[in-house]
Amino acid sequence: MAKLQVEDGKVYTEVEEITRELAPLHIQIHRWAIADDPQLRQLLAKDNLDEDEKQQVLKAFDGYFEQLKQTAGYQFCDLIVLHPHTPNLDALLAKFDKIHTHDDDEVRYIVAGEAVFGFVRPDGSQVELTVQPEEYINVPAGTEHWFVLTPARRVKAVRYFTGTEGWVPKYTGTPIRRHQVVA
Ligand SMILES: [Fe+2]
Repeated sequence: MAKLQVEDGKVYTEVEEITRELAPLHIQIHRWAIADDPQLRQLLAKDNLDEDEKQQVLKAFDGYFEQLKQTAGYQFCDLIVLHPHTPNLDALLAKFDKIHTHDDDEVRYIVAGEAVFGFVRPDGSQVELTVQPEEYINVPAGTEHWFVLTPARRVKAVRYFTGTEGWVPKYTGTPIRRHQVVA
């Protein structure tokens, strides 16, 4: 279940409240179920997945990808797997934890673990949203945001792309005022 922390420390957990707080950003959050398939659950519980295992996971969520292909022109997806023993994890995370935008929407579907998206709202206020399994999030192009892991440092997320260029950040230089992880 997503949680949203705003700058005065208030934490929202109700979908209606989170939707209201994020409304100025036009962020979409949906709940996409993960099938209760023992083999899939086993893969999702593993820290490290080889290429073949990643493909098996992606195949399990192919129905959602088809939907995005047909309704929103998505063409590619991959599975990002991060855990405490991921090689160069800190260097990798350092690319995500500065405020940036993209020319395309950033679309993620969390399938295991959790992570935090920070956003700069149009009034300049900064909020942090913890996303968890079964949560699909669409961050519109041009939205100032950042991404960090929670202390468990584990997440698996499907990334959906409309083009072949993949993940391209444009750093805006806006400082992050808060960097707290919602417990
Ligand atoms: Fe991003």
